[in-house]
Amino acid sequence: MRVLGIETSCDETGVAIYDTETGLLGHCLHSQIELHAAYGGVVPELASRDHIRRLPLLLKQVLSETGLSAGDIDGVAYTAGPGLAGALLVGASVAEAFALSAGVPALPVHHLEGHLLSPLLSANPPQFPFVALLVSGGHTQLMRVTDVGDYELLGESLDDAAGEAFDKTAKLLGLGYPGGPQLAALAEGGVAGKFRLPRPMLHSGDLDFSFSGLKTAVLNCVSGGSWRGEQAADLAADFQEAVVDVLCAKSMSALKQSGLNALVVAGGVGANRRLRERLDEAARRRRCRVYYPEPALCTDNGAMIAFAGALRLAVGERGDGPAIRIRPRWVLSELKPPH
Ligand code: KG4
Ligand code: ZN
Repeated sequence: MRVLGIETSCDETGVAIYDTETGLLGHCLHSQIELHAAYGGVVPELASRDHIRRLPLLLKQVLSETGLSAGDIDGVAYTAGPGLAGALLVGASVAEAFALSAGVPALPVHHLEGHLLSPLLSANPPQFPFVALLVSGGHTQLMRVTDVGDYELLGESLDDAAGEAFDKTAKLLGLGYPGGPQLAALAEGGVAGKFRLPRPMLHSGDLDFSFSGLKTAVLNCVSGGSWRGEQAADLAADFQEAVVDVLCAKSMSALKQSGLNALVVAGGVGANRRLRERLDEAARRRRCRVYYPEPALCTDNGAMIAFAGALRLAVGERGDGPAIRIRPRWVLSELKPPH
C-alpha cells in the first residue's frame, strides 16, 4: 500500500510517500525558518498561509521525484494534532480533498505518534516494547511503548518542554530563532560547570520534568548585562548540560523501572549532539541501546506521518471522513491500537 503523508502542524511543510512493501519512496520538506526569523518565533497566521502556498508545490515535487501519479496513491495520512489550529487545517483540508478526489481513504495521525515511530524507519529499527523519550518544542514525555497505539505515559514536563526551554534561553542570550540548534552550536565552544545552574526535579523520585526554573536561573545570570563571546558560550554549555543531565537521568530511571533495555529518542531536541553522547554513554553502562531517527527525520517531516498512517491504514483503519477534523490539543496515551 502506498501512503501519502502530509505534515503541517507548525513551521515545516512535509510531504512523503511510504510504501508498506518497499519502505520510504521519497519525502520533501520546506522549513519556514526564514519566514519567522524576523519575529523571533513562529507567527501562526504566517505559518498557515505559507503551508497553503507550499503544500501543492511539494505534492507535485514528491510525485515527480518518485515517478508516481495521484492514481498510484492508496491512502493519505495527515497530522490532525497536536499543533497550531490554522496550520493543521491546511494539511487536513488538502489531505481530505486529495483522498476524496483519488477515491482513497484519508486518516488523521497524531503528530507525536509520528515522532515516536520514526526510528522504525531506520536501517536497524528497535523492537517493541521500548521506552520513548519524546523531546520536541511542545512536549517532553517519557512513554512506555508496548506496540503501535499502546502508549503509557510514564512522566512529562510540568511546565516548559525541553525544546521550549532551549528556545527561550537562546532568546535570553540574544540568539535568533529557532533557538535550540543555535544555543547548541554556541555551547559547543563553551565549558560547562561555571554557573552552577539547577537540575530541576532531578531527585523528585518520579519521571516528571520541569524546565522553566532553569530558564529563570539563566535570566538571573544575564540580567543587567549583555552576554557575548566566551561567557555566553560557557553559560549556553552549562544550560545544555543541565537539561541533558535531567533528560539522561530520567530516561535511565524509566528503563530501570520498566525493565526494558531499548530507548527511542524522538523529536527536535533528539538532534542535540551532547544529549546523544550522554544517552549513549549512560545506556551502554546499563547494557541498553538507544535508537534515533535518521538525522533528516528528527525534526518535523512528512515521512513519519506517512509511516505512522500506513501502519494503521494497512490493517484497515479508516478516518470518519470526508470530514476535516483537527485536534490542536490531543493526548498521545488516548490512542488505541490500529483497528
Ligand atoms: O520536533 P520538532 O521539530 O517540532 C515540534 O514538534 O515541536 O522540535 C522542535 C524543537 C525546537 O524547540 C528546537 O529548538 C529544538 O527542537 N531543537 C533543538 C536542536 N534541534 C532542534 N534543541 C536542542 N538542540 C538541537 N540541536
Ligand atoms: Zn514535532
